[in-house]
Amino acid sequence: MSTWANLGLQDSASPLMEQLIFFHDHALLILVMITVLVGYLMFMLFFNSYINRFLLHGQLIEMIWTILPAIILLFIAFPSLRLLYLLDEINEPSVTLKSIGHQWYWSYEYSDFNDIEFDSYMVPTNELENDGFRLLDVDNRIVLPMNSQIRILVTAADVIHSWTVPALGVKVDGTPGRLNQTNFFMNRPGLFYGQCSEICGANHSFMPIVIESVPVNYFIKWISSNIN
Ligand code: CUA
Repeated sequence: MSTWANLGLQDSASPLMEQLIFFHDHALLILVMITVLVGYLMFMLFFNSYINRFLLHGQLIEMIWTILPAIILLFIAFPSLRLLYLLDEINEPSVTLKSIGHQWYWSYEYSDFNDIEFDSYMVPTNELENDGFRLLDVDNRIVLPMNSQIRILVTAADVIHSWTVPALGVKVDGTPGRLNQTNFFMNRPGLFYGQCSEICGANHSFMPIVIESVPVNYFIKWISSNIN
């Protein structure tokens, strides 16, 4: 999760988020190079006192400064498209979790396992344990196995919500009347925090998401202790 003074991306906990971070750094590097070059040129223009009285056109330079930026953009466009399709690729998920957005909490259904379902509300500040995270902890966590492909189905019951967990690179809108799909693979155990990120009303800020990433055998134990 994010802690004090962390202004960048969170550490990745999934291969897709790792790729997203690589792409971010790549795009940012190109952005910085362009900004420095253009900034330098604009700055130096202030001190330029040369004038060419006969300059009316320059077809070669115009060809160059039209085509060159187009080529630079390709270096962003192709990795971007690669990532886009990679994020959408679903590879035989072993668990499916359905997340339903409500005003203002999430409810979850493990339809693979005899309909385990529960609501997940934020823990209010005055009821928080000493080691709890304010505005971020919930009463019922999602438990999911690490090192497994997981499919998430997202929808909503009232208005549009968004199921967003930054460390996993997941951000999917829950829309009433629709069922959106995404997937991820958690490559380490731990707690992963997320928040709704679609402005969904007065308590939009108070419907966090907590995923408990556990080893597969622990997950099976949790599932069997919850089956009715
Ligand atoms: Cu639900 Cu914002």
